[in-house]
Amino acid sequence: MSAITLATLQAHRRDNTRFSCLTAYDATLASLAADAGISVLLVGDSLGMVLQGHDSTLPVTLDDVVYHTRCVARAGVSSLIMADLPFMTNATTGETLNAAGQLMRAGAQLVKLEGEGWLADDIRELVRRGVPVCAHLGLRPQSVNALGGYRVQGREAAASQRLIDDALTLEAAGAALILLECVPAELGQRVRSAVSVPVIGIGAGPEVDGQILVMHDMLGATRHRPPRFVRDFLAEGGSLSGAFRAYHDAVVTGSFPGPEHSF
Ligand code: KIV
Ligand code: NA
Repeated sequence: MSAITLATLQAHRRDNTRFSCLTAYDATLASLAADAGISVLLVGDSLGMVLQGHDSTLPVTLDDVVYHTRCVARAGVSSLIMADLPFMTNATTGETLNAAGQLMRAGAQLVKLEGEGWLADDIRELVRRGVPVCAHLGLRPQSVNALGGYRVQGREAAASQRLIDDALTLEAAGAALILLECVPAELGQRVRSAVSVPVIGIGAGPEVDGQILVMHDMLGATRHRPPRFVRDFLAEGGSLSGAFRAYHDAVVTGSFPGPEHSF
């Protein structure tokens, strides 16, 4: 399989075809997911919850994400590898650049930052230095304490308009991708038509270019009740490879997410 690049994702957007994304934290499962056709593997700071047992992503360190990025990169997959900047590793532009440098050296091909319109300056600096960026908007788990819980964002008219404005600001700053977490499906669709970069959703409805899930969630390997937007693909796929293929097929054919997974 030829290597997936940002150009591949842009082509999906242009052709109005869907692509699949999944978190990955280790070489073996990264390689099974890539073989199933998953376009983007995210070394997410969700590893704090699903691997480390924390109840939020806040305790995750840059070293943690660097370590797991190295593990995933060693699999030598054709999927695009994205890595998260953990909580407070982007407190200043200097720290942001340093953190992104470490992730890229570990094997990431782009980095993801949680925030709002204020991310623009840091995104500009990263892009200038050759680091592609995905801007994570909507529910931002690193801000769970400020948001008052893991809840749907952008329900009110003012908040949804602000989110669209933020997406446009960050696209103008050079963001290559927008990721939307837990927003009404209608807002997912509005953001997607406002910007011209590919939009990836998790709990953002079907009208976006890519879908992403936490790998453990879509394998039914959860300690808590999974969020509404999750479907157990291991139950239907019958094996790890089968689950990844079932997920990939459901995303590209548009059968996932359904209305029961959307807000
Ligand atoms: O860390 C993560 O897994 C993520 C996805 C939920 C988008 O950021
Ligand atoms: Na994350």
